[in-house]
Amino acid sequence: MRETGPVKVLFICLGNICRSPMAESVFENQVKTAGLTKNISVDSCGTSTYHVGENPDYRSLQKLHEKGLKTHHRVRQVRKEDFTEFHYLIPMDSQNMVDLITEFPAETSLLGSRLVLMRDFDSQPGNRDVPDPYWGGDEGFEEVYQILQRCGKKLLEAIRKAENL
Ligand code: 4NP
Repeated sequence: MRETGPVKVLFICLGNICRSPMAESVFENQVKTAGLTKNISVDSCGTSTYHVGENPDYRSLQKLHEKGLKTHHRVRQVRKEDFTEFHYLIPMDSQNMVDLITEFPAETSLLGSRLVLMRDFDSQPGNRDVPDPYWGGDEGFEEVYQILQRCGKKLLEAIRKAENL
């Protein structure tokens, strides 16, 4: 654990209603299973203002419920302070990454290797983006869940190694 408190991880997508709140919930559960709840804290946000203040998409909530997980997240937009408050910022896709770098050039460059695409932690080769399930059917949410499980596991391993946890 850092002297100042837990390692803080922030998942980021466009709307903060589908992918990043699911990532937050899945990763939080992986942290809990590892017995690291006191050492690692997790949050999520979106690059857009589209759904600020809302609950996550009902299909994300359904998928989490089906997997025995839940979230009480309320949608919020990314803010400048996130780049100093959080230690690891994990965008869901390359457009999210471009949007962050465009909006916050100084803050993102200072973060260096602690700003990483979620799928850089994917053990399976292929697309580097967590696909946006918003416009598609329910099967997209299962696919996202599976990707988040896989990547979350590796992300947790990487953080444990980097932070001596
Ligand atoms: P998310 O999905 O970025 O995974 O939360 C989306 C949610 C909403 C919209 C697009 C993507 N939208 O255009 O409202």
